[in-house]
Amino acid sequence: MKILQSILTGVVVMALSVCSMGQSGNSITVKADQLVAEVQPTMWGVFFEDINLGADGGIYAEMVKNRSFEFYKPMMGWTILGKPLTEGDFLVVNRKKVNEANPRFLCVTLHNNKKGSIGLNNEGFRGMGVKKDIGYDFSFMYHQTSPGIKMYIELVNETGEIIGSTVVNTTATGSEWKKIKTSFIASATAPKASMRIWFEGDGPIDLDMISLFPQDTWKKRPGGMRADMIQMLADMKPGFIRFPGGCIVEGYDLSQRYQWKKTIGPVEQRQLIINRWNFEFAHRPTPDYFQTFGLGFFEYFQLAEDIGAEPLPILNAGMACQFNSAELVPISQLDPYIQDALDLIEFANGDITTQWGKVRAEMGHPGPFHLKFMGVGNENWGPQYIERLKIFTKAIKEKYPNIKLVNSSGTDPNGERFDYLNGELRKMNADIIDEHYYRRPEWFLQNASRYDNYDRKGSKIFAGEYAAQSDKTVSVNNKNNWQTAIAEAAFMTGMERNADVVCMASYAPLFANVDGWQWTPDMIWVDNLQVYGTPNYYVQKLFSLNKGTNVVPILQDNKPLSGQDSLYASAVIDKNTNELVVKLVNVSGKTQTKDIQVSGIKKLDADAKLTILKADDLTDVNSFNQPGKVAPSEQALKLKGKKISLSLMPYSFTIVRVKMS
Ligand code: AHR
Repeated sequence: MKILQSILTGVVVMALSVCSMGQSGNSITVKADQLVAEVQPTMWGVFFEDINLGADGGIYAEMVKNRSFEFYKPMMGWTILGKPLTEGDFLVVNRKKVNEANPRFLCVTLHNNKKGSIGLNNEGFRGMGVKKDIGYDFSFMYHQTSPGIKMYIELVNETGEIIGSTVVNTTATGSEWKKIKTSFIASATAPKASMRIWFEGDGPIDLDMISLFPQDTWKKRPGGMRADMIQMLADMKPGFIRFPGGCIVEGYDLSQRYQWKKTIGPVEQRQLIINRWNFEFAHRPTPDYFQTFGLGFFEYFQLAEDIGAEPLPILNAGMACQFNSAELVPISQLDPYIQDALDLIEFANGDITTQWGKVRAEMGHPGPFHLKFMGVGNENWGPQYIERLKIFTKAIKEKYPNIKLVNSSGTDPNGERFDYLNGELRKMNADIIDEHYYRRPEWFLQNASRYDNYDRKGSKIFAGEYAAQSDKTVSVNNKNNWQTAIAEAAFMTGMERNADVVCMASYAPLFANVDGWQWTPDMIWVDNLQVYGTPNYYVQKLFSLNKGTNVVPILQDNKPLSGQDSLYASAVIDKNTNELVVKLVNVSGKTQTKDIQVSGIKKLDADAKLTILKADDLTDVNSFNQPGKVAPSEQALKLKGKKISLSLMPYSFTIVRVKMS
């Protein structure tokens, strides 16, 4: 029945298409003494972009939507409670000249109001996820002429019950903006709560930056990130984190490009912009999607440090998204863009006596972030990109010769645009070429040997964005099912085998909020309270946790095992633990019994560990109800001598880990 289902979904076609690639045979050999390539510590990483409510409404734990009234519709996310007495009791004021970055605030005028008569409600990002017994930090900025306004803050669940509250009194007066912070504990859990503020008192009060954060953030940092989401990344031990995008680097037009300098410093001075995913897809409009930049470049660097990943920032190359406005900066006006790149390196690595090193220190990180990689451009193409890139490269390499630059090879892994860019980048001796592929699972299987014939001495490859698509790219029907994940696993054995060429790889996109996504498939799905990893997540995690230090050949009939008998394999040793790690992906619907002979070592330990990731059906997916439906399981395996005898289950990804001597 299961197999029949697979046939109906067309999946067996994918398995069969590779059967013809080689003869079936049982003799597989691992040459454990032939270290053919070093696996870079950066090999398996993650790519973060603020898409699918990835940052605001995602890892950035702020619960108030539109906290400073800067959305195009200034009251989006807010509703007025009660009936204002006079016209103008709630006014959105724009003080642009005084505060360019955060121009708007809300002026509320009270008329001897009592609690419950006039107030505000914030709906959060598709509701607010509130957890019982967790502390919440409420804060806001205010300005008033006379003291004595009371604000009653209430968290309200879906049925109207109050599940957390606090009261604040505004005491200060004068022209300065003041900040009040207070905390309270929630008495119950609610996935879609909202926050009410009742006003009591008389006279006007100006309000801005009305904020609510949980206290159980990542590393308990106030105003920090959602711990459950970051933990998923930390658990992968990623070699790098690429940020902040993706297309948001380029922007719909240049005014909406990502400018890192506007994302650092006090949060109330970080200038919000619209998120391009707000309106990119007519079929998935997200009118409340903006970038507040509470999560900015300092926080990205800090996150990289926290999870032991190399930071890989990508900067705008003087070009807006070529699918959208395709605006270009004239070469004569490229200098500020290049200066941004140079300043970023100083911000990350500079001594605290330098201009930007000092800014980093003032933000709480006097030590450097040890930036080694930087990307110039995301999915840019054409001679205009190469022309700009050369100017960037010259300026950056002159000042910082050790920074490795990542360059775009466009949107696709083949075709005219790719061929042109690939040729030009190789002529430039590009350090690292960023390749992207959003393709059908069959493509991943057919291209598992893609890197076997790449130039070993030339530019290195960063597979910066890839994901197998169960339907068409950007189709809403794409699923993170086992069919896509196993195809990626097969392809990744090819990357690992070619670790002398491929130095970095990351799945894309990383996060998606079930109530606010624009793009699917995505590696990790969340709602306001929960998170689950897809089968694709577990594939990525298993490769990363088993990356080893050196590639050794795994051969069938003296050829790399890449599709013969619908099997894909790679092998590494880990010099640190003196272990052999063999990865095998069986994309056929039958169990395959294989003996692996290990040569070039004296002995293998008799006790090996097997990790198996498999599903009953290729259409299987994980979900909040069944987060572990497709998840790795471990078992012991007894070995005899230097032979590893395996029964590879249908549609399975198997990892053998064993000590060598
Ligand atoms: O990952 C989603 C988008 O796909 C990225 O923003 C872009 O680089 C690619 O086209």
